[in-house]
Amino acid sequence: MDNSQTRVLLTGPTGFIGGRLLHALDEQGFKVRCLVRLSEKLTIKRPLKQEPEVMYADLLQPETLPQAMEGMEAAYYLVHSMGGRSIKETVAFAERDRRAATNFLTAAEDAGLKRIIYLGGLGETGDKLSKHLASRQEVARILQSGRVQTTTLRAAVIIGAGGASFELIRYLVERLPVMMCPRWIDTRSQPIAVQNVISYLVGCLQEPATAGLNLDIGGPDIVSYLDLMLIYKRVRGLHRFIFKVPLLTPRLSAYWINLITPVPAGIVFPLVEGLKNEVICRENHIRDLIPIELISMEEAICTALTETEKGPGRLPSRQACFISAKGTGGS
Ligand SMILES: NC(=O)c1ccc[n+]([C@@H]2O[C@H](COP(=O)([O-])OP(=O)(O)OC[C@H]3O[C@@H](n4cnc5c(N)ncnc54)[C@H](OP(=O)(O)O)[C@@H]3O)[C@@H](O)[C@H]2O)c1
Repeated sequence: MDNSQTRVLLTGPTGFIGGRLLHALDEQGFKVRCLVRLSEKLTIKRPLKQEPEVMYADLLQPETLPQAMEGMEAAYYLVHSMGGRSIKETVAFAERDRRAATNFLTAAEDAGLKRIIYLGGLGETGDKLSKHLASRQEVARILQSGRVQTTTLRAAVIIGAGGASFELIRYLVERLPVMMCPRWIDTRSQPIAVQNVISYLVGCLQEPATAGLNLDIGGPDIVSYLDLMLIYKRVRGLHRFIFKVPLLTPRLSAYWINLITPVPAGIVFPLVEGLKNEVICRENHIRDLIPIELISMEEAICTALTETEKGPGRLPSRQACFISAKGTGGS
């Protein structure tokens, strides 16, 4: 397939998903324009076939968007507004995300974009949904409300080095020999390996039948958060004791997770609030549209750990992992 004539706008290229997607799009020959707020933050991990165009824009500054959208056919929306070191900063993200999505859609319509591909979150609709998951769904509704055909992929925890949810799990299991966890530990989820997410994101651009659809994406395993931590400790060969303390509220657990892990409070609090919500695929249409081999949780964790070991090394290197996985250096 000749993709060299398709010009694609990539938002979030400085992030966990966007940084990886840039390489995958480049490998497939797409012409990529990266939308960045700070070009210094854009680190390109491996050499690319084609140098991407890099353009400054901020989704919260609508006047910066028309230039970034000009000449583009499709755009990836890989942006969220959670973050910041202070707990106070956990409050306003939904309002920022609403404005960012609205600005983005208006500019995309004005520029005549044909497609938007958005990676959002799984979770049922309703009042019990956490603010974070509700906000991800609101962004999907905003992007789908316009003239541009928008595909929404809905994912639970994405397993990969540098992903906020995966890093939370990693730091907790690595740092705490004894862990007391609240009720959310039994909530079921369907995590997915970042490599599978990237294949689906690229696949959506290549498969016109995905245009305008909401598609759930998940890995082959449905697990509780306790199972996920147990798989992690097994893969790492660690001895850990995990106790359930039902009286511990999600908010209290967010405070101690904030103390133990370096993940910013502005991300920890919304994510931990969301752990009460089951996040499981309700339909698997994507598997017919984009058939790929799904990676098991053990293999995904092993690959993520191998990547972490090769990276800046945020934890002292002990051993990579005990499960031997295809293409990963298990020891
Ligand atoms: N990570 C997961 O486990 C997971 C799970 C399910 C769904 N998702 C979804 O995947 C998408 C990408 O998430 P991620 O994990 O890659 O997030 P991330 O690593 O935190 O990256 C977020 C990106 O958004 C950019 N951004 C934020 N506000 C912006 C603005 N106003 N204008 C322009 N860019 C802005 C950031 O740029 P700066 O570098 O300038 O801050 C950064 O590149 C999100 O929609 C998220 O909901 C992620």
